[in-house]
Amino acid sequence: MSQEQIKFAYWVPNVSGGLVVSKIEQRTSWNIDYNRKLAQTAEKAGFEYALSQIRFTAGYGAEFQHESVAISHALLAATDKLRVIAAILPGPWNPVVLAKQIATIDHLTNGRVAVNIVSGWFRGEFQAIGEPWLEHDERYRRSEEFIEVLKGIWTTDNFSYQGDFYRIHNYSLKPKPLQQAPHPEIFQGGSSRAARDMASRVSDWYFTNGNTVEGIQAQVDDIRAKAAANGHSVKVGVNAFIIARDTEEEARAVLAEIIEKADPEAVNAFGHEVKQAGKASPEGEGNWAKSTFEDLVQYNDGFKTNLIGTPQQIAERIVALKAVGVDLILSGFLHFQEEVAYFGDKVLPLVRELERELEAEPVPLKLAA
Ligand SMILES: Cc1cc2nc3c(=O)[nH]c(=O)nc-3n(C[C@H](O)[C@H](O)[C@H](O)COP(=O)(O)O)c2cc1C
Repeated sequence: MSQEQIKFAYWVPNVSGGLVVSKIEQRTSWNIDYNRKLAQTAEKAGFEYALSQIRFTAGYGAEFQHESVAISHALLAATDKLRVIAAILPGPWNPVVLAKQIATIDHLTNGRVAVNIVSGWFRGEFQAIGEPWLEHDERYRRSEEFIEVLKGIWTTDNFSYQGDFYRIHNYSLKPKPLQQAPHPEIFQGGSSRAARDMASRVSDWYFTNGNTVEGIQAQVDDIRAKAAANGHSVKVGVNAFIIARDTEEEARAVLAEIIEKADPEAVNAFGHEVKQAGKASPEGEGNWAKSTFEDLVQYNDGFKTNLIGTPQQIAERIVALKAVGVDLILSGFLHFQEEVAYFGDKVLPLVRELERELEAEPVPLKLAA
């Protein structure tokens, strides 16, 4: 188990409609004032990262969307320590433009920006913006080239690259990003075979949808073994929709209400679209390949991680995830502002306490189921 403290990120609500596809009340907003205040609250609460989303058109709702790089910069400008991860879709983005854009933001924000390279699942969106749609594994082949180019430009002068998707000739980016150890962090979203193989070669971080501890462990073991064989190391972040309440009954009642008020039309439409993701991979695995209707109500399978209950139960489950090799919890909340603050007050101190206990006495903890 890592000696480092487990890290916390939250989903930036830069698209409208909240993180669950349900008519339940969600006290959240996609507007910039709300997002600035949320970033400041999260920073104070002990969150290290914020992850923006990239969306060009409505999908599971998400009718309005702020662009990810621009909003990431705004949140960095409103905070002091928080690291903000901008979501990027190869295709619409060109890696040279992105390398330059992120290098500048890195200088403007004292080296706190990162990127999440997502390979896409939403064919209708690509069509809407006139972007050619590649088959599943081809999308990852392009993403891998994209990351190689990004790293090359960020770290070397006179960089050249001859790929199937990108060609660069003797290019020197000036200035390079401020972060030179070795460059701004590169996250990736996606967990099919192709996604894992890419992570085991080039990404700094592998982000996966929500899952059980066993499901996550299988992915961690697989990806770390492959990365070791490639002489690469990769950290792992897991999505979770967190419902922390003073009693377990209250938390379970909130989940039941979310599901009961789910918008079946929107959930089923989303379930149809995501067949372009994991299920469309040659092995038929990856994100959403086995998701049920209930899972899809949180559009990154966040209920499956089961961080739903009392602060103590949630803290114990987080430490159980750490014990199987998870480095970061990517969290979503119903009433964002107030629940991020509650998490910082009630859950995070318990996680740190359990981590200290484990470090002092590394015997298996009795963990909540
Ligand atoms: C943490 C995380 C964040 C993601 N963010 C976005 C996003 O902002 N926009 C987007 O179109 N897809 C996003 N995705 C989806 C990925 O691009 C990818 O299509 C999906 O995870 C399916 O991957 P798979 O086919 O490898 O299983 C995200 C995925 C994860 C796990």
